[in-house]
Amino acid sequence: MTTLAPIGAAPNAGSTVKKPWGKTPDGQAVDLYVLTNRAGMEMAITTYGGAVVSLKTPDRSGKLGDVVLGYDSLEGYVNDKAYLGAIVGRYGNRIAHAQFSLDGKTYTLAKNNGENSLHGGIKGFNKAVWTAKEISTRGGPSLELSYLSKDGEEGFAGNLKVTVTYLLLDNNALRIEYSATTDKKTVVNLTNHSYFNLAGPGGDILSTVLMVEADKFTPVDAGLIPTGELRDVSGTPFDFRKPTAIGARIEQDDEQLKLGHGYDHNFVLRRAAGERAETLAARAVDPASGRVLEVWTTEPGVQLYTSNFLDGVKGKGGVTYTRRSAFCLETQHFPDSPNQAKFPSAVLSPGETYHTSTTFKFTVEK
Ligand code: GLA
Repeated sequence: MTTLAPIGAAPNAGSTVKKPWGKTPDGQAVDLYVLTNRAGMEMAITTYGGAVVSLKTPDRSGKLGDVVLGYDSLEGYVNDKAYLGAIVGRYGNRIAHAQFSLDGKTYTLAKNNGENSLHGGIKGFNKAVWTAKEISTRGGPSLELSYLSKDGEEGFAGNLKVTVTYLLLDNNALRIEYSATTDKKTVVNLTNHSYFNLAGPGGDILSTVLMVEADKFTPVDAGLIPTGELRDVSGTPFDFRKPTAIGARIEQDDEQLKLGHGYDHNFVLRRAAGERAETLAARAVDPASGRVLEVWTTEPGVQLYTSNFLDGVKGKGGVTYTRRSAFCLETQHFPDSPNQAKFPSAVLSPGETYHTSTTFKFTVEK
């Protein structure tokens, strides 16, 4: 175990501890980094898929509890099909018919989700071993992860240099900054796929009260591909403008909820045109523990996913994860943007820098 905190640092100065975490089936060494901020909030990240393995935040009495789903060991992440905590790319969410065109050239991807491409393909960024570097920031311990996605990987063009930085800020916020450059025109949509349960593992998230800053969402077809419509949430179970329990309407007889097997939809965030700073996307409150999670982002959309496809996954500490045992708020460009000219563009050209950021802020309500 190597402690990377500066020698002589005060015990409460925050720290980063690195430990070896085994090898992938093809022999690549994987590490686990444990970051602790000045307030005692702790987070573990593995270089395998850049996954957030645990995130311990205080409840209203100050007791730390793990609020994300994950696995005890590397093996869990190697076998994972649910993207627990992982960095998702090169293109987060779906691309219809696993195909898109750029400048008249058609790119064909693997159909790893019915007829469609999902989360970067068969070996997406969640299955890559990332290079980690501890960086010092004033706000709290941080870890910079980088990965080179080679030209042609999973059918995408261009050598894409990706950097994802996790900053565990001393005010109990986790900021994730994503950057990328390419040497050929390509599409990029990066996100983090953490599954949250603010009450801690084991129960469901139906009583979590959610607010989403969205007047519209993108309805989907049976393959969960957006139809192209931006539908008003008014009068639908997708209206989370007033805080509402996730479970309050999830079983309603609603075509979109049926297609998603619950919530698995992109919300169009209410952001002013030209806004570059992060704005509030969503706020979730667990009334029992008092934990509050706010999601702030520079992205135009957020995917609310109520773990509808979790079907008895063996998670940390012997807990089994089932549907509705967590919620995801995946900040993103809209699904299938490469095929939908009216959606904000996910195209990255040589000479440009992709840059997005998302902050998960943890507080408590008395
Ligand atoms: C996203 C998708 C879901 C599902 C999960 C991963 O949220 O929209 O349909 O594939 O990822 O299991």
